[in-house]
Amino acid sequence: MRLVRLIYASRSARPLGMREMVTLLEHCRQHNHDQEITGMLAFSRDGFLQVLEGSGQRVNALYHRIAADPRHHQLALISYGEVVEREFPDWNMAALDVVGLGASRRAAALLKYGTSAVFDPYSMSATAALRLMVAWRSEVVPSSAGESRMPADAPQIA
Ligand SMILES: Cc1cc2nc3c(=O)[nH]c(=O)nc-3n(C[C@H](O)[C@H](O)[C@H](O)COP(=O)(O)O)c2cc1C
Repeated sequence: MRLVRLIYASRSARPLGMREMVTLLEHCRQHNHDQEITGMLAFSRDGFLQVLEGSGQRVNALYHRIAADPRHHQLALISYGEVVEREFPDWNMAALDVVGLGASRRAAALLKYGTSAVFDPYSMSATAALRLMVAWRSEVVPSSAGESRMPADAPQIA
């Protein structure tokens, strides 16, 4: 199966607490590691933007599982296609708390790639969404290979 990249947006069905996010991310990283899937998840109180990279078969299977997850809804596929390389090869699931970024850093990135300083992944083109995530990748501080932790000024979650 060929290497693909999938990007989707969704809304949180209910606010997820930080502890719940930590548990979710631990699960994601273990499963994605086993499936050789890499990517990044940006989340706010009510929205998600996620990039998944890996074999087409495995990424499709994961997307179906994610789509069935009641923790979020209104899934919108932003892009899907074959790629020649991964943008997140070192991350089983990099995670960024968009709120924890702080207002000015958040606004700078969102205004560069979109029309508003509000985090609204649904309003972004596929190219802009990927560029935003690549820009935000540098905000995620790795704690060890394949893992990630929140930026230093983000709310404590562990
Ligand atoms: C926003 C969001 C992103 C998710 N991302 C992943 C992911 O990257 N990898 C993963 O294995 N599960 C992810 N999940 C969890 C799946 O939706 C699903 O709960 C899980 O794969 C089920 O695993 P299980 O069949 O082992 O219980 C995500 C869930 C949410 C709400």
